[in-house]
Amino acid sequence: MVEVNGLGKTVDNGGVPLTILQDISFTVMPGETVAIVGASGSGKSTLLGLLAGLDVPTAGEIRLDGVSLAALDEDARAVQRGRLLGFVFQSFQLLPALTALENVMLPLELAGRKDAATLARDWLERVGLGHRLKHYPKHLSGGEQQRVALARAFSPAPRLVLADEPTGNLDAATGQQVIELMFDLNAKQGTTLVLVTHDEAIAARCGRVLRIQAGRLAD
Ligand SMILES: Nc1ncnc2c1ncn2[C@@H]1O[C@H](COP(=O)(O)OP(=O)(O)O)[C@@H](O)[C@H]1O
Ligand SMILES: [Mg+2]
Repeated sequence: MVEVNGLGKTVDNGGVPLTILQDISFTVMPGETVAIVGASGSGKSTLLGLLAGLDVPTAGEIRLDGVSLAALDEDARAVQRGRLLGFVFQSFQLLPALTALENVMLPLELAGRKDAATLARDWLERVGLGHRLKHYPKHLSGGEQQRVALARAFSPAPRLVLADEPTGNLDAATGQQVIELMFDLNAKQGTTLVLVTHDEAIAARCGRVLRIQAGRLAD
């Protein structure tokens, strides 16, 4: 599902090159759950952004479902992302001007689903928010917003879900509920999951743990 080979990212930091990621190689098989664990600033979000094709590497290669991201231009990467990927962010990233229902409908509509409204409603019911369809994000708790984000990520039936510290902005109890829901949806949908976390208990729930230290994978 994911093949990463010799991946590197160096940015220009006020005239001084700053290497954020170096020589990262790994593969993720379909259906696997993989945690990426590392200290703050170790490069986890940068890596996930590269996997999503939201950012471009300065070295190495990424293949998703056999397709090299380098072979795609920005528009083609966006199409690939829509077809293949769901993304869950630490800060939820719901669109503030859209209701919960509309937030979940949007990617479905972009994918051309005629049944977007019905499907979105079903998914919000599935994450326990059938009574919050018309709420705007600012009127939802953090845990509710992240459940909307899970419905949005999983409802287009992506083959791969990338999650960047999905419980990082939630209290422990709420975070636990959200993570249980995410693992449950992932197992039922047979999705491949790459989950960034600094919580060892969450990482231990994944099939495999990759550790990143100062931009490199540790053994
Ligand atoms: N565009 C950028 N320019 C300069 N430094 C960056 C940029 N993006 C990330 N960094 C730096 O790279 C390091 C890794 O960032 P990040 O991937 O967000 O780490 P993590 O998610 O593990 O906390 C941090 O030190 C961060 O400040
Ligand atoms: Mg991060």
